[in-house]
Amino acid sequence: MAAMRVNGTPTRTIRPLADGQSVEIIDQTALPHDYRCLRLASLADAAHAIRSMQVRGAPLIGVTAAYGVALAMAHGSADDASLDAAVARLAATRPTAVNLRWALTRVATCLRPLAAAARAAAAWREAATIAEEDVEQCRRIGEHGLPLLRACAGERGRLEVMTHCNAGWLAAVDFGTALAPVYAAFDEGLAVHVWVSETRPRNQGLLTAWELAQHGVPHTLIADNAAGALLAAGRIDAVIVGADRIAGNGDVANKIGTYLKALAAAASGVPFFVAAPRSTIDFACPDGAAIPIEERAADELRLVHGRDAHGLATHLRQLPADAAVANPAFDVTPAALISALISERGSSPASRAGLLALYPEEAHA
Ligand code: MRU
Repeated sequence: MAAMRVNGTPTRTIRPLADGQSVEIIDQTALPHDYRCLRLASLADAAHAIRSMQVRGAPLIGVTAAYGVALAMAHGSADDASLDAAVARLAATRPTAVNLRWALTRVATCLRPLAAAARAAAAWREAATIAEEDVEQCRRIGEHGLPLLRACAGERGRLEVMTHCNAGWLAAVDFGTALAPVYAAFDEGLAVHVWVSETRPRNQGLLTAWELAQHGVPHTLIADNAAGALLAAGRIDAVIVGADRIAGNGDVANKIGTYLKALAAAASGVPFFVAAPRSTIDFACPDGAAIPIEERAADELRLVHGRDAHGLATHLRQLPADAAVANPAFDVTPAALISALISERGSSPASRAGLLALYPEEAHA
């Protein structure tokens, strides 16, 4: 599978800079209107980037948090209290994607036995290792998901795939999770077309459309509410989404609206796949009801982001500042609605037994 490109240049969503003291990210709040990169040079920068969704998507949140600890250790005290404070601050940025906690635990476990003077370099190395592992895991998700997608292709001569939110390479370091099998299919010459739901209110579907366009994958944007009708009309061969947390019983938390697509897919007899790496699976979480669901700022609904008549990126108010608004950012899709989970180890039923077949070393939990 070819690495992801921006304007033809191989690009990752997060890159350590040559100064060894900072990382560069793609500012996803500016996309798809502007492509710009930002330098994160401190713990505060990293925490802000995650909370404000300059970086987003479960795997990328985890990798950014790991670099956030490295930045904290490099630019301030690296004693135990500073390490604990950095981890606590980063962990508080977003509650649902368990990759965040997973990455922080991993880096902290690596650093704790070390002398303070050795921690910055070790954190930097561990963050880079997590990033490299993420790339490889996403590549493998692509390999394991490809035969599942291929098997869904119907008579029409091209595979019609639906996705939700952005679980592409922008949400990881490279390749993505849900989109990795789509890229693998496209790269091997399979005719594939992707139906991309807008994903109100943050419109991550626009990010998906942008990155699919960068790779040349044919796609069509739809309003979220169009998904059910397309599925019912038999126009979709498979739905594939990512995950922010997979509970031990196979229930999946993902971007708000995922559940409705899973319901519509089940009612229409369309396979519904969830692709995610090990870092998204929370074996200690018994079921979907135990997953914390992030409630985000009401202004995400009250304002819309786009270009004005002069081509300038701007916000437009569509609701008054005091309009009552609820903005849950994720929902839970019960395991029963999921045809298969796809991870770097292969695919399995969405169940405790299925997860343990992929990760037998977790059976003790
Ligand atoms: O709020 P976001 O944009 O961080 O949510 C992203 C999603 O819900 C993705 O589907 C999920 O993180 C999987 S990313 C590979």
